Amino acid sequence: MADTDGMKETKNYHLDKPAKSQAFGLKGCNELDWGMKNRLSNIFRPETGRTVMLAVDHGYFMGPTTGLERIDVDIVPLLPYADTLMCTRGALRSMIPPTFNKGVVMRSSGGPSILKEISNEHIAVAVEDAVRMNVAAMAVQVFIGGEFETQSVHNMTRLVDEGLRYGIPTLAVTAVGKDMNRDAKYMRLATRICAELGASYLKTYYVKDFETVTASCPVPIVIAGGKKLPELDALTMASNAINDGAAGVDMGRNIFQSDAPHAMIQAVSKVVHDNMSPKDGLDLYQTLKNEAK
Ligand code: 5RP
Repeated sequence: MADTDGMKETKNYHLDKPAKSQAFGLKGCNELDWGMKNRLSNIFRPETGRTVMLAVDHGYFMGPTTGLERIDVDIVPLLPYADTLMCTRGALRSMIPPTFNKGVVMRSSGGPSILKEISNEHIAVAVEDAVRMNVAAMAVQVFIGGEFETQSVHNMTRLVDEGLRYGIPTLAVTAVGKDMNRDAKYMRLATRICAELGASYLKTYYVKDFETVTASCPVPIVIAGGKKLPELDALTMASNAINDGAAGVDMGRNIFQSDAPHAMIQAVSKVVHDNMSPKDGLDLYQTLKNEAK
């Protein structure tokens, strides 16, 4: 029933307080719609503007990768330490509890396995399904210089168009072909093309002169971890990337293939969000690992 009788007079207009008009903290994202910004805030922690994405989507072309044989057993316990989970819709629906309420970045391209030409991907998730799963972003592989370069760029631009319609950001994952140089010149080319064509943020590999890659890309970049490294090397890579302007990591194997994944993800998080030194990160890793014994 409408409150019409005995209504209190309105009075709290806070005339001394101008309405706030705050810039959105993420690079290049200020002009996005509210829904986009809200979803990005479920990926990048608003306090730091950075993220630790836990990447477990490798099965979409590699099958049961070492450390991901049982996502329900080995990955679910790590979720409290991640800011965001990057996974496939199959893994999400079959193994991730729906009570997980942080950002999900949905692997949305696919097709070929490691046995075939991997750049021959297509869009693998309809935007309506992304909405249904309440995802924070859709991730698409882009193969600049690869055999199916144009097709993969087109996959990305279609997801960008559909994402803009529903307020869902698109993460472009720059994939470096076997016969390409993994260097700053290539990363600048690949990330800039994806950003110019509408990607909300980028994932790429950490390389020498990485600060030139982040400087020339108008939207945030996170780094992939790549193949398993000794823990100190992986923490050093994360720290260097942050110092060179990365907005976080999207790390998989260096976390879930570690001897103590729960310790490693907490150490990575301290390096990313609190600028902890790699050496202190390693000490933290070892302490947490020993405590669990
Ligand atoms: C696969 C991916 C992975 O999510 C990405 O490579 C991150 O995982 P890792 O740290 O193991 O490299 O996009 O194409």
